[in-house]
Amino acid sequence: MDEERIGVGLVGAGRIGSFHAHTLAQRLPGARLAAVADPAPGAAERLTRALSGRPYADPKALLDDPDVRAVVLTSPAATHAALVRDCAAAGKAVFCEKPMALTLEDADAAVAAAQQAGVPLQVGFNRRFAADFAAAREVVVSGGIGTPQLLRSVIRDPGLSDPGAVRPWTLFLETLIHDFDALLFLNPGARPLEVYAVADALVAPAYKDAGLLDTAVVVLRFDNGALATAEASFSAAYGYDIRGEVFGSAGMVSAGDQAAGSLRHWDAGGLHRPTVRRDVDLFAAAYTAELAHFVDCVRTGAAPQATGEDARRALAVALAAIRSVQERRPVRLEEVEPA
Ligand SMILES: NC(=O)c1ccc[n+]([C@@H]2O[C@H](COP(=O)([O-])OP(=O)(O)OC[C@H]3O[C@@H](n4cnc5c(N)ncnc54)[C@H](O)[C@@H]3O)[C@@H](O)[C@H]2O)c1
Repeated sequence: MDEERIGVGLVGAGRIGSFHAHTLAQRLPGARLAAVADPAPGAAERLTRALSGRPYADPKALLDDPDVRAVVLTSPAATHAALVRDCAAAGKAVFCEKPMALTLEDADAAVAAAQQAGVPLQVGFNRRFAADFAAAREVVVSGGIGTPQLLRSVIRDPGLSDPGAVRPWTLFLETLIHDFDALLFLNPGARPLEVYAVADALVAPAYKDAGLLDTAVVVLRFDNGALATAEASFSAAYGYDIRGEVFGSAGMVSAGDQAAGSLRHWDAGGLHRPTVRRDVDLFAAAYTAELAHFVDCVRTGAAPQATGEDARRALAVALAAIRSVQERRPVRLEEVEPA
């Protein structure tokens, strides 16, 4: 039975890595957790002891393990692009958490390495695998809302526990990058032309001088005429709030529900609906579906959805938004392209 399951190695045994490790070990009949690598003392062992597989401190040792056929990268963002290239060089299929790279040059090199090696490269844009977002896109593709004219994407995270630990521009490179991909996903085939972004530290103003931005609005103009906004906050008091909307000439479609389920509670204080507090709860099914898809692609050789090219497209918007904040002006996408 184990030979039929794809041996997957996980690199980065932190918060999302732990969730993906449980998915690989327990939620996917076609996969098994073959190895975990993390340089933090005891981190890899903690997962392999609880689940399965061999622990490594060095990701390169994991790539040398012949039992590892595919790799899931959940290490910090700055390590991703080089690790994608290392996986490709070792002939391993790779699933990379977002962002796949922090520069367009690194994104291009990662995509080229996977293509040259002929290995599948998938990126962790989990909203594409959330049933409501996928259905919303189908409605748009089928013409159900006519011509897209206005799009909206919202991300509000429930808490900013340690503002001092947030690296500059995280809001754009690691948070809004999901929204930029969602807008591209929900406006299929359209190319963003121009971006205008404003951002501030409204949640933790004391950290603004250190480079923290925790609140932003981004306006995008697409080549099919559609206008879009993406907005983000690192601190929604009521929970984890992710929404997408496309308004068109013949209607509107929206995805994302702020309520955790269908429960409603009426009392003297009014009507209450529980909300979701953690991404791993809101997106448990989508996180599982994206890895199921990745393992299927490894098995069948099919090209994954949520590709390295998608990661590059979203990164270009993030980089244009960052420049827009820095220079307080609209920035055309071509301005951030490598010379
Ligand atoms: N798709 C999503 O919704 C989602 C959600 C959370 C995090 N993420 C992304 O996943 C990545 C990890 O985020 P996290 O919150 O789990 O971070 P984390 O800090 O909790 O975990 C990172 C882990 O990587 C390890 N590490 C550091 N350097 C390493 C290296 N060179 N090789 C291997 N491991 C290394 C650390 O020791 C740590 O255990 C980030 O890029 C983040 O943006 C995506």
